[in-house]
Amino acid sequence: MSDEITMQKNRFCALALACALAIGALPTARAFPATDVRNSVDFTSDVIYQIVTDRFVDGDPSNNPKAPLLSKDCRLTHLYCGGDWKGVESKITDGYLPALGVSALLLSVPVENVMATIAPSSSSYHGYWPRDFKRVNPAFGTMADFKHLIAVAHAHGIKVMIDFVINQTSPAREDDDQYAEDGRLYDDGKLLVAFNADAGGMYHHYGETDFSSVEDMRNKSLYDLADLDQQHPAIDAYLKSAILVWLDAGIDGIRVDTVKHVSPAWQKTWVAAINSHRPVFTAGEWYVPRNETDPAGYQFANQSGMSVLDFPFAQTLRAVFRYRDKDMTALGQMLDETGAAYLHPLDQVTFLDNHDQNRITLSDSPEHHRLVEQALAFALTARGTPMIYYGTEQYMLGAGHAPLNRAMMDKFDRGTAAFGLVRRLAALRKANPALQYGSHLQRFVTPDLYIFERRFHGNTVLVAINRNPYKEASVTQLVTALRCANGAPTRYADVLDEQQDGVAITVNCGAAAVAPFKLAPGAVAVWAERDDSASTLPELGHVGPVMGLAGEEITLSGRHFGSVRGSVLFDAAPLDGAAITHWEDTLIKVRLPARGAGRYAVAVQRDGARSDSYGGIEILGAPQVSLRVVVDDASAAAGEQLFVLGDDDALGANAAGRAAGPMDNRIVYRYPSWHTDVSVPAGTALSFRFVKKNAAGTVLARESGAAHRFTTPAGGTATVRVKLNGWSGAAAPAAQP
Ligand code: GLC
Ligand code: CA
Repeated sequence: MSDEITMQKNRFCALALACALAIGALPTARAFPATDVRNSVDFTSDVIYQIVTDRFVDGDPSNNPKAPLLSKDCRLTHLYCGGDWKGVESKITDGYLPALGVSALLLSVPVENVMATIAPSSSSYHGYWPRDFKRVNPAFGTMADFKHLIAVAHAHGIKVMIDFVINQTSPAREDDDQYAEDGRLYDDGKLLVAFNADAGGMYHHYGETDFSSVEDMRNKSLYDLADLDQQHPAIDAYLKSAILVWLDAGIDGIRVDTVKHVSPAWQKTWVAAINSHRPVFTAGEWYVPRNETDPAGYQFANQSGMSVLDFPFAQTLRAVFRYRDKDMTALGQMLDETGAAYLHPLDQVTFLDNHDQNRITLSDSPEHHRLVEQALAFALTARGTPMIYYGTEQYMLGAGHAPLNRAMMDKFDRGTAAFGLVRRLAALRKANPALQYGSHLQRFVTPDLYIFERRFHGNTVLVAINRNPYKEASVTQLVTALRCANGAPTRYADVLDEQQDGVAITVNCGAAAVAPFKLAPGAVAVWAERDDSASTLPELGHVGPVMGLAGEEITLSGRHFGSVRGSVLFDAAPLDGAAITHWEDTLIKVRLPARGAGRYAVAVQRDGARSDSYGGIEILGAPQVSLRVVVDDASAAAGEQLFVLGDDDALGANAAGRAAGPMDNRIVYRYPSWHTDVSVPAGTALSFRFVKKNAAGTVLARESGAAHRFTTPAGGTATVRVKLNGWSGAAAPAAQP
């Protein structure tokens, strides 16, 4: 196993070093495997490592903020502790992160923040108080340091993601321009606006959200953070140009902060703008509390063009392995629910904990350490793109919320059991497409035992976790897709080298049953088979990005595409010739066809053989504009909701079930006025009318008279405000509170 890891590492380094030398001048025709660091839209083979930059390693004390912003020993946990990009880089070059096997880093928000303490003694060490989104936070280094870190990471086969804020600037108070920096926002050094000098309304001024509704969360401020109005043309343009600075610096992915607090329509226009520039992996923080389900989170993941941090996954995993208030059956239920709800489950970022939660490790007891290993094993083998929070591999503690869960990384021990487990499973994820693209099948479950299998054609990974720390589990009649070789019972060694008390198993021929075996108390075992030659048919595993304009490139990854170009099917209609810009056995790049806006299923065809199709790839008709639709004098009874129905896809394509909304009527516009924002194609003539539904979604009335017409501008944002013509088919309206 370890030889395999070294070999693999060397291969990546050799390849990537050559490209580091030629940065910016990569010949697109050159072959590279789907798991290569240059594939910044497919993270399914990666393990992401989340770093709070200020709390990792101080690689350059000269950039540390001065007192009172700095806590040298990091005992004042609300202050800067000195960590920086040089420090992160040092953990790549000294071999720690490469040995751990993680192949992507998520770094704290890198942009310039407010550099003052705010009473009682808080600071911007976390990065969530931006003042200039186009400049670096000097406490983390210079732009040259940042780019150097990216070059070094890439040379080691490691991608770099950044956390990025779109919702807010810094703490501010209405009518107090002396508070902190009054939310002042700069455009590469030039003052754009301050919270209390905001005649043009670049900020929302509706007070602080109580989280009671999406309308409240989207339009009011989160805590006291000055809340940007993305619909304002200057803010729209600013946020769209700011992210280009970081894309041009070479990032491979973005975690988008607080997506629940920003209009989804505007965010779709933002992602479309990113994809038009250079597509990277994007995942939004759609927070879902414990024991709650939130259909709107799934909807966001399916419609915004970005993935999400998979809170439903994380909360269940935490309930099972940290709080232990749910048993192992909850894992399967969660995978069933989320597997059906997400259009692209593989792209959702799974995790155990993060900088906003209690750390996964409960205590220093061996029993609690084993639970961490079990949780890690589950996340690193289950569907999705796993992310580990820095220090989990060292069993760092941090119960209690921020900043106690953001302590300075205190040791870099490569000998912990968790470190070894991550190393082995990250290598398996890189090597075995069953973990990247595979299906999920529950094989065996009891309240304490979970055995599941991932499968991608000839590749299979079987995982068994016995959560019970005292009781051995007897496993009989376990069925598997692992095969017996050459007609004889075949032994599969534990990929974890029995470090978590696992065992080897024997797969018998015929019924493909595993010979009865025992799983020790607390044991975790993983068995894998990799057989890429089992089939010669094209096997499509992943497509990204999932949204783009005609002419923009998407990347297909999988196996057996062959070396001779075939065609890519969009809803069964073949595309070949110049539209295909790259074709090799595991990776194809193709330009989206001008086939009309909408969702397509993509498949690969060659030599008469066709792959499975990968659905939900959205072709946009034109660059996107965030359009605010406002209607006045629209009466409705309590509980009734308004929607916008029109010819464009974003307005439901005339199908009332898919109309845009529900519209809001409490904050920005108040009843009987309503509004909603939609992402629509630029320069396009739209026609629309309003419909009224009850809470169950039944259409109660449609707007009478001629449809409203509006032609969208060539870019930016727009507002169309109309008066309701009247309702037809409605009962006499009662007043809505
Ligand atoms: C997100 C971050 C959290 C931060 C907040 C405001 O929830 O994860 O740490 O405080 O956004 O930016
Ligand atoms: Ca420093």
